[in-house]
Amino acid sequence: MLLSIRDLGLTVPLPHGPRRILRGVSLDVDAGETVGLVGESGSGKSTTARAVLRLVPEGAHTTGSISVGGVSPAGPADVRAIRTEHAAMIFQDPRSSLNPVRRIGDSATERLVHVHGIARAEASRRLLDLMAEVGLREPDLLLRKYPHQLSGGMLQRVSIAAALSTNPRLLLADEATSALDVTTQAEVLALLRRLRRERGLAVLFITHDLLLAGACCDRVYVMREGSIVDEQPGKTVFVDPANPYTRALADATPRLPEREHGHA
Ligand SMILES: Nc1ncnc2c1ncn2[C@@H]1O[C@H](COP(=O)(O)OP(=O)(O)OP(=O)(O)O)[C@@H](O)[C@H]1O
Ligand SMILES: [Mg+2]
Repeated sequence: MLLSIRDLGLTVPLPHGPRRILRGVSLDVDAGETVGLVGESGSGKSTTARAVLRLVPEGAHTTGSISVGGVSPAGPADVRAIRTEHAAMIFQDPRSSLNPVRRIGDSATERLVHVHGIARAEASRRLLDLMAEVGLREPDLLLRKYPHQLSGGMLQRVSIAAALSTNPRLLLADEATSALDVTTQAEVLALLRRLRRERGLAVLFITHDLLLAGACCDRVYVMREGSIVDEQPGKTVFVDPANPYTRALADATPRLPEREHGHA
């Protein structure tokens, strides 16, 4: 198993007392698998994904275990190995993960140059190819801009390209396509499918959209209030949800207007 999370608990100290954010989360992602993590806002999806890279809130107390490619994010050397060799994350808010006073190109190639030791020219070339693949026009001009000069959707695509440029085995995609228009979303999903076919990329696909998760994931975990409450094959999670909570999520998902008319 490429990613294995067992009984992960996470509690943060708050002024009025400790708050349990994760309550025994267990999930697996195999090499080459696309696995959805779905749930309403605040259910703990981002916290779970960030814990894989040991990006936990300050003072957090964690229990349970995580293994990525056989490595646990315990000591600094292991965390570094996971972040460089095994996993990359696309953060939910790309603006907060990019330094506002550095040019996009410097931020986006930083890991390739400083962590992977790849020459700057080669790093830029790799990034430019991926930027074109995620539908960014004139990527070389974009590399010289600052984050505030790009729209949210463009920044999201830059982060996707930067995350993929290090050839991770596991991509933690936190609402990676949510800010994108449907056409770009389809392009990004096609790129992820190709990377999976060509290099066995595994994806933990975080979204609040059950319909999307069902359409593009092999398996889908449903999360609620810090726990996993359901696990279903992607094929059936939306059309035939057996679990009452998953059914409620499915019922709350907006459908295409034609289908609504069809039921009327
Ligand atoms: N550093 C922190 N300190 C205190 N509480 C936190 C911290 N980080 C997250 N939380 C709380 O933990 C819960 C889970 O947050 P998380 O961001 O993981 O949810 P999510 O499922 O990703 O939600 P969304 O769909 O809105 O992105 C929320 O109630 C959030 O307020
Ligand atoms: Mg989140």
